[in-house]
Amino acid sequence: MCTQVIDRIVISGARGFVGKNLQKFLSSNKIQSIPISRQNFKKNQFPSLKNTSHFVHLAGVGSESVDQDSFVQVNIELTKTVINLCKKNNIKNIIYFSGLGVSKNSRSSYFISKFNAEKLIKNSGLQYTIFRPSYILGDDDYLTKNISKQILKKQIVIPGSGKFLLQPISIDDVCRCINTALHSSKFSNKIIDLVGPKEITFENLLKKSISPSIKIKKITLELAYKKALTDINFEYGVEDLNILVGNYIGNHKKLQNLCDFNFKKIESLNA
Ligand SMILES: NC(=O)c1ccc[n+]([C@@H]2O[C@H](COP(=O)([O-])OP(=O)(O)OC[C@H]3O[C@@H](n4cnc5c(N)ncnc54)[C@H](OP(=O)(O)O)[C@@H]3O)[C@@H](O)[C@H]2O)c1
Repeated sequence: MCTQVIDRIVISGARGFVGKNLQKFLSSNKIQSIPISRQNFKKNQFPSLKNTSHFVHLAGVGSESVDQDSFVQVNIELTKTVINLCKKNNIKNIIYFSGLGVSKNSRSSYFISKFNAEKLIKNSGLQYTIFRPSYILGDDDYLTKNISKQILKKQIVIPGSGKFLLQPISIDDVCRCINTALHSSKFSNKIIDLVGPKEITFENLLKKSISPSIKIKKITLELAYKKALTDINFEYGVEDLNILVGNYIGNHKKLQNLCDFNFKKIESLNA
């Protein structure tokens, strides 16, 4: 492996699902991390970032509502701030979490914001690794939390046929990938799908995760989108549906070739 010297690691979005797990992972591997919080961005006041080799930029939003910051404000504007912070503090490497399926042909606001953030990073002059994750699963992930909530109501809603493919990856493997990227220049200036080894339909993932006593209710995509647009309590938001229905599959082989560990095959949720 071409090794890289690493000092301290800065993490934005450190209190989120990936950030919390990553901090734990790094600390158990004796790597010092500096968390950057929402308040730091809001007040434009940051801790000392001296002797820092990498910025892992995880802060981002996957949905919009009237009472929270927009895709542009978070996914794009914070990325600009992070790039400036790197330059000001002589941080040479940035690792960014985009999304699986992001491309120049993207049509959804979420994907477009991630695409534009990728572009800012690619043009920043920093050494970058852009990961495009599928569903990241662990004890407390977004999808598992959603399905666990539905289980309490004894019914799971499946939008459309449920036959769209996902390629989930475990949070432990995600932390190991980041760790490998921190240490190896093989990841430099690459965009890499962060996907597990197993492709599985949404319907099958759910069926393997829930007891037969839980009812599955399929609704048409038309109704699902209508509810997503108009009902704040509906189980899925518009972007959730876009990502689900998009049938996004990535290149696991490329990731596996860069990482010398075996990835977990995910066939169910911890719901
Ligand atoms: N988890 C997945 O399956 C998945 C899949 C594809 C892509 N991703 C991307 O990977 C990254 C990490 O995901 P995650 O699951 O850890 O997300 P998460 O749990 O929702 O955490 C997002 C983080 O972003 C921060 N944030 C949100 N709005 C902010 C704002 N206006 N100013 C400053 N910070 C803000 C949050 O701060 P607070 O803690 O203060 O709320 C939180 O720490 C995100 O960019 C996400 O889009 C995740």
